[in-house]
Amino acid sequence: MKKKKKTIRDVEVRGKRVLLRVDFNVPVDESGSITDDTRIRAAIPTIRYLRDEGAVVLVASHFGRPKGKPDAAFSLARAAERLSSLIGFRVPILSDCIGDEVKRAVSAMKPGDVALLENVRFHPGEEKNDRSFAKALAENADLFVNDAFGAAHRAHASTAGVAEFLPAVAGFLMEREVETLSELLESPQRPFAAVLGGAKVSDKIAVLQNLVERADVLVLGGGMANTFLRAKGHSMGRSLVEEDRIPVACEVMSRAAARGTEVLLPVDLVVAERIDPNAETRVVDVGSVPEGWAAVDIGPKSAALFARSIASARTVFWNGPMGVFEIDKFAAGTLSIAGSIAESGATSVVGGGDSVAAVEKANVAGKMSHVSTGGGASLEFLEGKELPGVACLMDAR
Ligand code: 3PG
Repeated sequence: MKKKKKTIRDVEVRGKRVLLRVDFNVPVDESGSITDDTRIRAAIPTIRYLRDEGAVVLVASHFGRPKGKPDAAFSLARAAERLSSLIGFRVPILSDCIGDEVKRAVSAMKPGDVALLENVRFHPGEEKNDRSFAKALAENADLFVNDAFGAAHRAHASTAGVAEFLPAVAGFLMEREVETLSELLESPQRPFAAVLGGAKVSDKIAVLQNLVERADVLVLGGGMANTFLRAKGHSMGRSLVEEDRIPVACEVMSRAAARGTEVLLPVDLVVAERIDPNAETRVVDVGSVPEGWAAVDIGPKSAALFARSIASARTVFWNGPMGVFEIDKFAAGTLSIAGSIAESGATSVVGGGDSVAAVEKANVAGKMSHVSTGGGASLEFLEGKELPGVACLMDAR
């Protein structure tokens, strides 16, 4: 951790009422069924530890964006069911996260009991980081444990505000996320390759600016690379290019040149006439994108070039797909990068929703050193920002 924070190992939890903030903001399908329970699984070691150590555990989370009022579509009931089946005992859900019902339930709980509070975003005070709401949350607890790395970039009442009223420490997931990401920024094993993709440069400006100073090689793919290729004078047909971000791309490339950071861009591309699974595709060299066609993936020569760089790295961070990988026909480049990282033997850290989905699609999640549970949070961390959900925790001696 940048500044080491206290964790649950550093404090007495036995007999304490613990408000445990987790991030159960999990993806669901149209019927509300959970499609990926990674975040629930990731919170289990902390819940088990607190239970085994004899704490009374009140688990709190947000889910979706219910706009400050109760809405059944955003209930955490399904998360309670999934948690119960994963952890092997029933975790009841309370109908609210503050107030009399919680008070009554907590007073009836015994050491080792665990309950899930209803969605903290059913109250407008949560996202406003309202002091009286934070105080009401704190009222039923003696200790705040933050394990919600995925929401640590939000300065909300249950992620940060509550620490004004309770001693605050990190859970195991928070500790691992912060340590792993800090190591990337502060002491990566070199060479350090940062593989960045995704649609837009505009989403990644700050992370590019920070990583160009720290990585040995920036491997750029996806829609984002189009803007860099355009900045180098290539005509990109109908590909997504952010013309107004060309100066940012130029600035990153000149900073890289000054610092000796290598920048690898695609040398060939898969292009399509339309973003459609049935569209005709071609592989073309960069510089030969036909008028009216758009880049949808990196080509095989680029994948091989990127793979060589990844194979010689000792640390790899990956965020963002190499193309429109949701469409199978355009996913080969992204899947091959996932495979190259998995086989590299490097310390490999994957951050951000899309790249995590790609790693799962490629079936290599288990081969990565660390797959972050934070999308926005991991990016903001790598931008060099201090996250409110981390900053509010007590410093370790
Ligand atoms: C996430 O999924 O990135 C976190 O849970 C934060 O959710 P939010 O973007 O709705 O604040």
